[in-house]
Amino acid sequence: MSNNIVFSGIQPTGSGDMHIGNYFGAVANWVRLQNSGRYQTIYCVVNLHAMTMPYKAEVLAKSTEQMFIDLLACGLDPDKSIIFVQSMVPEHTELAWVFGCVCSYGDLTRQTQFKEKSEQLEGKQDGFISAGLFTYPVLQAADILLYRAANVPVGQDQKQHLELSRDIAQRFNTQFGEYFPLPEVLSTETPKLLALNDPSKKMSKSLGPKSYIGLFEDEASVRSKVRSAVTDIGNPEEPMGPGAANLLAILRACGKHDTAAQFEQEYANGPRRYAPLKEATADALVELTQHMRARRAEVAADRARVKQLMQLGAEKARSIAVQTMRDVRRLTGLFALDY
Ligand code: TRP
Repeated sequence: MSNNIVFSGIQPTGSGDMHIGNYFGAVANWVRLQNSGRYQTIYCVVNLHAMTMPYKAEVLAKSTEQMFIDLLACGLDPDKSIIFVQSMVPEHTELAWVFGCVCSYGDLTRQTQFKEKSEQLEGKQDGFISAGLFTYPVLQAADILLYRAANVPVGQDQKQHLELSRDIAQRFNTQFGEYFPLPEVLSTETPKLLALNDPSKKMSKSLGPKSYIGLFEDEASVRSKVRSAVTDIGNPEEPMGPGAANLLAILRACGKHDTAAQFEQEYANGPRRYAPLKEATADALVELTQHMRARRAEVAADRARVKQLMQLGAEKARSIAVQTMRDVRRLTGLFALDY
């Protein structure tokens, strides 16, 4: 059973703004899917997932609202997509409990993201690892299947979680009757941007501010970061290194295909001078970030409207979620006030 419902989620980043890696890797694609007119698109700020790692309440509240604003600034449109905050639709946690009971313990122990994140925590502070971190993928399956979405645009790193979502749906269907679609990764070409200061790694906030360009960063700092990006010495006898290729990828991501092609042609015929490439990349990024900053300022200026859109998005999501939970309670033999 497949359909045209798209669901995806993004964590509110505790550490401030979205960077261009998040944008081009995920959100820009969400906007494209929304505007293609081929899907019913549902996008969620997954603040409950952010609770699985140590965090501060005030910071979570603030970054949840910030992420909601950023998504609007990026071009998600409340008239075309359902955009909402996960905790405002309590059915997510209710379905997660039901799914916890059709998900095998063994499958959860094999999730590599849990292994990685729990190892990160072991060395830190009191070494506390929450059970929520362990059951994280169960909540993710609930997110998707509450809307019976068959299409989930996520990156490679989420493939295992999606497999688990399918196993959960399958097991539920076998035990209680065909009800859920088996969700698939909706894979689309998205650029994987590398860290500017260490192009052997993916762009990430954890590699420090010089690693990434913030989507709303100011011009001076964009230019200085691009200028100091790690490249190679441009020797035509040797192949281009990943740092320079990353700059070309950024140019293309910004839509400057012709410029990127020109550099490639020039580089194919002789030494690679990277100063002009850096300049062109910085120009393209400044254009993007200035546009984004203006949009964000516009959205953020009307806080009452932001709150209203959050409410509205949650209400739309909830009208679907309530229906699904009613069916699920009936299928699984659970009593509720209306049953
Ligand atoms: N785990 C996803 C991530 O870290 C976020 C997420 C939560 C999600 N629920 C989801 C993604 C449902 C897609 C669908 O990127």
